[in-house]
Amino acid sequence: MTWKSYDVRFPPGIVYGLQASSLVGMEAAKLGRKALLVAGNVVKNLGYVDVIKDRVKSEGVEVITYIKDDREPTVEHVEAGLKLFSDNGCDLIIALGGGSAIDTAKAIGILATNGGTLSDYMGMYKVKKPIPPLVAIPTTSGTGSEVTRFTVITNPANNVKMLIGSPLIIPSVAIDDPELTITMPPKITAATGIDAFTHAIEAYISKRSHPLSDTLARSAIRRIARYIRRAWAVPEDIEARSQMMLGSLEAGLAFSNSSVTIVHGMSRPIGAIFGVPHGISNALLLPTCMEFCMVGSLEKFADIAELMGEDVKGLPLWKAAEKAVEAIRRLCEDLQIPKTVTGLGIDKERFMEVIPKMAEDALASGSPANAPRVATKEDIMELYRRVI
Ligand SMILES: [Fe+2]
Repeated sequence: MTWKSYDVRFPPGIVYGLQASSLVGMEAAKLGRKALLVAGNVVKNLGYVDVIKDRVKSEGVEVITYIKDDREPTVEHVEAGLKLFSDNGCDLIIALGGGSAIDTAKAIGILATNGGTLSDYMGMYKVKKPIPPLVAIPTTSGTGSEVTRFTVITNPANNVKMLIGSPLIIPSVAIDDPELTITMPPKITAATGIDAFTHAIEAYISKRSHPLSDTLARSAIRRIARYIRRAWAVPEDIEARSQMMLGSLEAGLAFSNSSVTIVHGMSRPIGAIFGVPHGISNALLLPTCMEFCMVGSLEKFADIAELMGEDVKGLPLWKAAEKAVEAIRRLCEDLQIPKTVTGLGIDKERFMEVIPKMAEDALASGSPANAPRVATKEDIMELYRRVI
């Protein structure tokens, strides 16, 4: 077998497992003296912000807190955080929360060291200088942002979710503590868990996948498929929560070093225009998009079926591959994920109206081009129509 060469980047530090977050003070003290702590309202109200703040302060690191609202991050959130970071002379960022807090922290870091505006860095490899040290502590098992080279920030001026990718924005340390996820209600567990599952599947079927990303992606698919229903059904099931956090971490490492594909490409415009949370719009699109992609990668889909626990022995390849699509659809149904945009309360006429723009934005992001089946603008418009 001949392999191309691949550029694989992981965070310098990954601390994971029960009570991993008790080490945050020690990790922060290695990296700076004054931290900007970025978190959302929900996490603050759960008391996590105070706990983390105390742990960091006890190691002699000062903390300035930036609590943002819980909407997905916009340019305004980043500018407000940047002002606090600069005005207070911070030299370190700590992000605590879901992808929203961690993506905001990465973007604050980009502007802190590179200057300019975020749209200057939209796309891949436009960031020139490393961000300040960043400690990322997820409170969901979903985005994997604590280990990835990506941030997604909405620009309200044109309703575009800007994807910025660079190895220079990978956090210095990821702290994955499953105890911080047990407070997630089932709806959030489902949406964020399916986001992680989508990362694993897309990393695996991506044209940019390679042996190392495949290893992580396959492990994540198996792990998440096995434990997501348990974590959804019994929020305090710490074993299921631990497995989901590890699955999300593996999936993040996989897609950061491979890529996402058509689901994420099509999901971002729905989020940007209709404010649908990232996990929900992914979950809504996942079965339909996988049905579309399947013919381009029958072997991998047959393998996904097996990883998800389907019995594919003796089946022809295409039939085994179909089992994966069926299993994905059933998983979304079991987790009570809405199947249509109208089911999310989005106006049908308005959705129809913006389908051409969404298809253009999806293609412009570059993600659909990584899918195993080429998707034209017409194909993407048709896929959007199938989830109305
Ligand atoms: Fe995602």
